[in-house]
Amino acid sequence: MSSSRRPMIAGNWKMNTTPADGRELAAAIASGSAAYGGVDVVICPPFTGIASAADAVSGTNVQVGAQNMSAEESGAYTGEVSASMLRGLVSYVIAGHSERRGLYCETDAAVAAKATAAHSAGFVPIVCVGENLETRKRGDAVSTVRSQLRASLSGYTGWDSLVVAYEPVWAIGTGEAASPQQAQEIIGELREELVALAGEKAAAGIRILYGGSVNSRNIGPFVDRPDIDGALVGGASLQADEFVRIVEMTARLLENPA
Ligand code: 13P
Repeated sequence: MSSSRRPMIAGNWKMNTTPADGRELAAAIASGSAAYGGVDVVICPPFTGIASAADAVSGTNVQVGAQNMSAEESGAYTGEVSASMLRGLVSYVIAGHSERRGLYCETDAAVAAKATAAHSAGFVPIVCVGENLETRKRGDAVSTVRSQLRASLSGYTGWDSLVVAYEPVWAIGTGEAASPQQAQEIIGELREELVALAGEKAAAGIRILYGGSVNSRNIGPFVDRPDIDGALVGGASLQADEFVRIVEMTARLLENPA
């Protein structure tokens, strides 16, 4: 974590929670994290739960994000949700989560179109990249995620409004997080890639999160690393107490850097 970037803890609820569950979870997260104003806290409910969660956190320091968004504005795109439908409800949009890439065949080009559409609509895109186990074992993780990031930001210009998340596929939902050293190594490389794309000054302001089996017991050493600005949390974001503890640990490190 660097003093020049605000830490962020974002919860990706994936395909969990009804609107009523989400309202309750969001309210509990908002009240639990109210004391930690130095950390940007974001929750990303499924589409059907966005309105109730947004209502529950209105006036608090918790912000809401969408897990996905169409790059199209409107029309014959069955099952898709556009920027104008999300306006007033969310501040962030996740683009290119590995589950979308892997299960729904989202390409880097599609992710880049979504990121640009989200930025044009006034949202902050959270662009996700990460290698699979095979790629890591081959020793190609660095080159793979760098080229994934480059292609996923093709044509992107909103450098003052972007979050990147490094989520190694092998660490997602497995209970086996990357080591903080592994995460810092890749995230340092991603920052270098951002320098090449956006210039030194802009790259220094872009937050890069780690994601993959983060919980309140392992978050500390991640956010202690110079280039890791927070976390994108899956499973552990579905329990208010646990998620708030992650926020609390991050806030504590901010007050007492190692
Ligand atoms: P887990 O924290 O459940 O491993 O999920 C990480 C993730 O995919 C967040 O987007």
